[in-house]
Amino acid sequence: MCGITAYCGNGFALPFLMQGLSKLEYRGYDSAGVTTIEKGALQTVKCKGRLKNLEDKLQDYKLEGHVGIGHTRWATHGIPSNLNSHPHSNDDETISLVHNGIIENYRELKDELIAKGYHFQSETDSEVVVQLLDYYYDGDLFEATKKVLKKIEGSYALCIVSVFEPEKIIVAKKDSPLIIGKADGAYVAASDIPALLAYTKDVYFLDDLEMAILQKDKIHFYTHDGKEINKELVTIPYDLEAAQKDGYDTFMLKEIYEQPHVIQETLRGRIADQKIILDELQGIDFHQYNRVYFVACGTAYHASLCGSQVLERSTKIPVIATVASEFRYSDPLIDEHTLAIFVSQSGETADTLAALRLAKEHHATTIAIANVLGSTISRDADYVLYTCAGPEIAVASTKAYTTQLVLLILLAYYVAQQLGKDVDFKTIQQLNQIPQYVENILNDHQLFEQYAKMLETLHDAYFIGRGLDYASVLEGALKLKEVSYVHADAYVAGELKHGPIALIEEGSVVIAVATQPHIAAKTISNIQETIARGARVILITTHGEEVKNVENTYYLPDVTPTLQAILVAIPLQLLAYYTACIKGCDVDKPRNLAKSVTVE
Ligand code: M6R
Repeated sequence: MCGITAYCGNGFALPFLMQGLSKLEYRGYDSAGVTTIEKGALQTVKCKGRLKNLEDKLQDYKLEGHVGIGHTRWATHGIPSNLNSHPHSNDDETISLVHNGIIENYRELKDELIAKGYHFQSETDSEVVVQLLDYYYDGDLFEATKKVLKKIEGSYALCIVSVFEPEKIIVAKKDSPLIIGKADGAYVAASDIPALLAYTKDVYFLDDLEMAILQKDKIHFYTHDGKEINKELVTIPYDLEAAQKDGYDTFMLKEIYEQPHVIQETLRGRIADQKIILDELQGIDFHQYNRVYFVACGTAYHASLCGSQVLERSTKIPVIATVASEFRYSDPLIDEHTLAIFVSQSGETADTLAALRLAKEHHATTIAIANVLGSTISRDADYVLYTCAGPEIAVASTKAYTTQLVLLILLAYYVAQQLGKDVDFKTIQQLNQIPQYVENILNDHQLFEQYAKMLETLHDAYFIGRGLDYASVLEGALKLKEVSYVHADAYVAGELKHGPIALIEEGSVVIAVATQPHIAAKTISNIQETIARGARVILITTHGEEVKNVENTYYLPDVTPTLQAILVAIPLQLLAYYTACIKGCDVDKPRNLAKSVTVE
């Protein structure tokens, strides 16, 4: 939530700041702003609304500083407004900063500062940091920052500039991402890798409670109490192209179409001679666990629901999948015999991170399934498996979901294999064919565009499924509601008659998934019950299921039931995508949402 950029170098800061913010707009788009230092003064331009508004406003300014910071906001404290936009400065405009995160004790700090005579312009928690810097500044910005970090509680990625030390940017991080790039004649920083890629692929990942001082030709890293440390320079294994739209109208569509490739990448090197190879997990003795948790949020939770069923079935170890915001407050049963798996595309989701830390405190073995290299969750977990989805920019998760499913299925069979259990070889073999099948489904896109027209004028849609299909319909409903704003709920098909069927009336649309042979017939009976009450049905199923009276049936390619969970995601993504397009919604940046949810 919120994206920040910073530039300190030989060139002008503004081009880097703005291109970086455009790559980070998925993290927040309520307002945007930049500050550069020029001729001994801060130049700040900021405004409410999308980055485009800032671009327009900047036409009236000439910002030519070589040191600067930028921000795109997802409002937490204070409505989206010009005043609440970042960067925030102290009263005499000598210090300015951008902040991503939440200062939890800002209320009391603000009261203390007001009592000392400070005035606040905004309603944000972030402004308290700059006023504290003003209070502590005594000729050394780094020393002042150290003192401020001791006072503030909560999460932060901070980039600070001052006219007193105009050649520097001080950065600090705790529980919000911050990546520093070593570019040609400059050091740069941003909340996420895509914002850096036009300038460099060589980066440092700042860890929690670390700080850095950026200058145009050097960088120094410190712990938050000022001890100098060394950091490793890492080269990012993909380039700018991977983070651009590449001729597609939207990132979401591009990312849907990337799935054959990224699924292939996620599988690469992980299956050989009918064996699963997950070298990253070497050293774990899976016999020691009597309980497994999957913990995640949103789409990643839906992938976990599916992964948990496959793992439990193939290992016979009891598995619980739970949403992170519940897990962390539910006093879960965790000890050294617990394996806890945390699934997160961004690797920064606040609830998932807190749940991971809780599991570690209670001596569980932790595995992260993450997509973003070097993200906090991936570094905090004992072990990490990366999906190879590349940067996912659209807020609605698509390729991250299907690659998570692939990796979770691999993980389930890997654990079974290590425990000496029988492994489902047919599924392992067919995994390699999944990219081609996904491609085939994508070729049927016009059909889903047609189905989408059924939803254009509706306020509600009903998704039903059983077993693994229930996880799929939860994800289908989430996708539809987040991008098209059609209210969509997912039900276990067998539960319809216990309440939800009361909602079905003439013209209701039911989207049903029936891919699991042992229960498909049951779901199909439930579909008939909705048709009898006037529903129009879109059914996604497999050949061989006998389906009568259903207006629209889409048959998936013939793969094992486990793998259908991957394939069925594609029609559901396309359905949501086209519905949103027909309704004229901003597909990549749905209202009220941000890509990386770094607040609780
Ligand atoms: O980065 P994460 O996978 O931890 O994000 C979790 C959810 O916020 C995320 O999956 C969200 O539900 C999706 N953007 C929805 O498409």
